[in-house]
Amino acid sequence: MKPFFIGLFLLGVVILNTALKPSPTQSLNYRHLGDSLSLKAQQTLLSNLLGAIEKGGTAYAVDFCHENASPLTNSVSSQAKIQRVSARNRNPDNATTIFDKKILDVFEGNAPLKDTLVAIPKGYVYYKPIRIGMSTCLQCHGQPKKDIEAATAKTIQKKYRFDKATGYQMGQLRGAWKLTFLVDK
Ligand code: HEC
Repeated sequence: MKPFFIGLFLLGVVILNTALKPSPTQSLNYRHLGDSLSLKAQQTLLSNLLGAIEKGGTAYAVDFCHENASPLTNSVSSQAKIQRVSARNRNPDNATTIFDKKILDVFEGNAPLKDTLVAIPKGYVYYKPIRIGMSTCLQCHGQPKKDIEAATAKTIQKKYRFDKATGYQMGQLRGAWKLTFLVDK
């Protein structure tokens, strides 16, 4: 009788394993979706940021981002919770979890990834690196005094007392897009 029960147990393990494992097709789809939604979010933020700088200058654009960065990001899609996370965050809401930090370390490592999808019990989390890709970023994230004008620095200090997001150089990793998809697997 014993082998029968062992066999039954093994069959159970196999069935459970297949049921819980994300199908490769499903994870591929969420990776594609993460890629396109984060691109859309990035384009939305960037065009609004450049528009604000043009309209009222850099210090004004800090105010603008303070009011609008999160609502704009949230408005991109209802399919995912869309966030930006950074180990040196400006907005306290954008701080990393221990797991986010591990992913950022991989993005910063010797063999940086283009993006990554992580399976969680309730769905998937998609991450994509955000780098200082244009000199405009330095106006608010570069060296104080050298890249950041006094008026801009003052507004940043006023709106974000615990700002950690300065001192960056071109090409450096600034943070990551983090898209959480809740899915019935
Ligand atoms: C006009 C000033 C300004 C410019 C220019 C600017 N940022 Fe920011 N950035 C901010 C502000 C303000 C926040 C906080 C927004 C918020 O409250 O959600 C921020 C937040 C971020 C965050 C989210 C993490 C955090 O620290 O809170 C990332 C990532 C980021 N910026 C990347 C960039 C990149 C890349 C560029 C260049 C394309 C750029 N920024 C240009 C002002 C600026």
